[in-house]
Amino acid sequence: MFLPKLLEKAHSGERLVTLTCYDASMARLMASCGIDILLVGDSLGMTIQGHDSTLPVSLADMVYHTRAVAKGAGGQAVIMADLNFGSYQASPKQAFASAAQLMAAGANIVKLEGGAPFVETVRFLTQRGVPVCAHLGLLPQSVNATGYRMQAKTEDAAQQLLDDALALQAAGASLLILEAIPEKLAARVTQALTIPTIGIGAGVHCDGQVLVINDLLGLTPTPPRFAKDFLHGQGSLEAAIRNYADAVRRGEFPGPEHSR
Ligand code: KIV
Repeated sequence: MFLPKLLEKAHSGERLVTLTCYDASMARLMASCGIDILLVGDSLGMTIQGHDSTLPVSLADMVYHTRAVAKGAGGQAVIMADLNFGSYQASPKQAFASAAQLMAAGANIVKLEGGAPFVETVRFLTQRGVPVCAHLGLLPQSVNATGYRMQAKTEDAAQQLLDDALALQAAGASLLILEAIPEKLAARVTQALTIPTIGIGAGVHCDGQVLVINDLLGLTPTPPRFAKDFLHGQGSLEAAIRNYADAVRRGEFPGPEHSR
């Protein structure tokens, strides 16, 4: 599915349902369950490869998994692929060369982490036909600088995040992921932007939600506070995925217990 159709959906008020996806079988299942966006996340460094961060993931890894997911989805969902650590930070040209490989493997949109330092990169990519999803808040590729903890808790940090979001939107970003920020701030950013926001650990007021599939299936030994095991009490993977999609579309997930 191409991005404009998805954006129409979001602008008509439908919440965007996103899941991470790393292989063709799950892509087929998720697409048949009506998941809007399959995110080939660099979280595969942890979920698939067993590392303790996303940092060791290579561009070759991302291309391999993007190709598999795109084949499985068969054009029935938007494929978003992460630009991995080290594949875009050096320059806009480096970002374009990396993004081109992901697009050739079947991505419809690429995602990169960061605010002001990446505004020019977002402009460079979008002016060359590469749709971009920006990612603010907790940035897993910066774990060595920040740890895995909620971000933007002070008013200064919140204002900086809002300024970054507006600058990324002005540079051409099509979507914005907000990870692990206070619910009120996510609501404020969502109100201020015309592009859709997709939250994870950012409360219920975003225009969509994303969850790591392993968290949804209860496979993560120490799940983050905002995760929910949707397989619990269900008889199949399909039921768990549909349960998640329904809960997001109805505005029932995340609940207050996932948004502290
Ligand atoms: O890689 C990933 O899974 C992500 C989500 C946590 C948004 O970036």
